[in-house]
Amino acid sequence: MARDRTVYVCQACGSRSARWLGRCNDCQEWNSLVEEREEAPPPPGKRRPAGRAAAAEPIGGIADAGEARTPSGIGELDRVLGGGVVAGSVILVGGDPGIGKSTLVLQALAALSRTATTLYVSGEESPAQIKMRAVRLGGTTGPSAENLLVLAETSVDRILEQASKIAPAVIAIDSVQTMFLEDLGSAPGSVAQVRECSAALVAWAKRHDVPTFLIGHVTKEGAIAGPRVLEHMVDTVLYFEGDRGHSFRILRAVKNRFGSTNEIGVFEMAQDGLQPVANPSALFLAERPEEVPGSAVVATVEGTRPILVEVQALVSATSFGTPRRTTLGIDPNRVALLIAILEKKMGLHLLGHDVFVNVAGGVRLDEPAADLGVAVAIASSFLDRPIDPQILLIGEIGLAGEVRAVSNVDLRVREGAKLGFAKTIVPEAVRKQVQPLDGVSVLTVRSLQEAWDILF
Ligand code: TYD
Ligand code: MG
Repeated sequence: MARDRTVYVCQACGSRSARWLGRCNDCQEWNSLVEEREEAPPPPGKRRPAGRAAAAEPIGGIADAGEARTPSGIGELDRVLGGGVVAGSVILVGGDPGIGKSTLVLQALAALSRTATTLYVSGEESPAQIKMRAVRLGGTTGPSAENLLVLAETSVDRILEQASKIAPAVIAIDSVQTMFLEDLGSAPGSVAQVRECSAALVAWAKRHDVPTFLIGHVTKEGAIAGPRVLEHMVDTVLYFEGDRGHSFRILRAVKNRFGSTNEIGVFEMAQDGLQPVANPSALFLAERPEEVPGSAVVATVEGTRPILVEVQALVSATSFGTPRRTTLGIDPNRVALLIAILEKKMGLHLLGHDVFVNVAGGVRLDEPAADLGVAVAIASSFLDRPIDPQILLIGEIGLAGEVRAVSNVDLRVREGAKLGFAKTIVPEAVRKQVQPLDGVSVLTVRSLQEAWDILF
């Protein structure tokens, strides 16, 4: 094969250079030159777009193409994907090292290989290591023993050559950062390699209609390592997150061309791989201390699924000049705002106190509906008065201390009822949306003050 020429192109201004430079000569941007493959320009007179010319047509006349979805056999993964793997779609799975990306994808392939041939390509582990893992996952028995093919290879050209021969139903590439194209001079994992390798893999997947999982490493900041364009190239971007100190993991879609991005999948890492968690609320509340000041339970909704989580706050006298405000799993600005409201409206003197807020279990709360619970947890710790463990708190707090309406309130109250919360505090404005439930009293509040009167 003829070696393609490569050029270095500035990602900021598009200027080209024959060799790498630390700073672009044209726009003076630092560190913006990236190696790219140069395609030979077509000879003059032959410059016509390849393929059949497409004609514009009325939208009403276009045939409906129902996407063919194959359920992966892992319910929580299917939920996040929007019902299964779509033919020809490319799914990027990102996450911290050791979080379980390889395990998840291998498990999905093992499940899919019950009915079809699948190809797991690893640039990180040897076939023997993959076998060891697959044995733990139970992916080496039955039809999977024959249908799950393993390839330890990092050259994209050779992978695609094999893939064309095997014609698998699904491919997984563990990890794009280890793959390389021989035409490029740069090392695997560099921006140019990651981009060009992914582009080649995506193009192959689309041409052959083969769904492909790409595993990607993340940077210190938590984004998928490599060029941002990687996320634009693929159809679906999933992030696998979780606290390494905890056994459960959350799979979240941040982009999905074939479904909603709100759904999350919850797994627990066990001896025999990732186990789907059908009832996450029960898991997140399992270790909740009762009758302890500073603990409150809030109901958050992820996609269509309500999840109850415990918010813990600790307020203690400041020993240095400036009080500390530290949060885990929740936006510190949101907490600062709630602290200001507590000071101004409820007269709590938090200025001389450190405030720590933690969402138990390593969950991330980013819904204003949790405001009431967070504010109450802080107050509870400050006042040293525990909250009735039977109470669930729902509501957004406005700057005037008012408790504002939240969405899906009925869903949240029901989830609370399922887990035995006998009392739920909800904003007055959404009272009508809550259907009466046996054994649950729904209390409505208009302001933080009214919640106070009920709780303390
Ligand atoms: P892995 O899938 O290798 O992570 P990644 O590909 O994201 O780097 O998962 C690694 C962790 O999962 C490792 O610390 C061991 C643990 N694990 C289990 O607890 N049980 C299992 O059945 C498997 C396969 C892994
Ligand atoms: Mg891995």
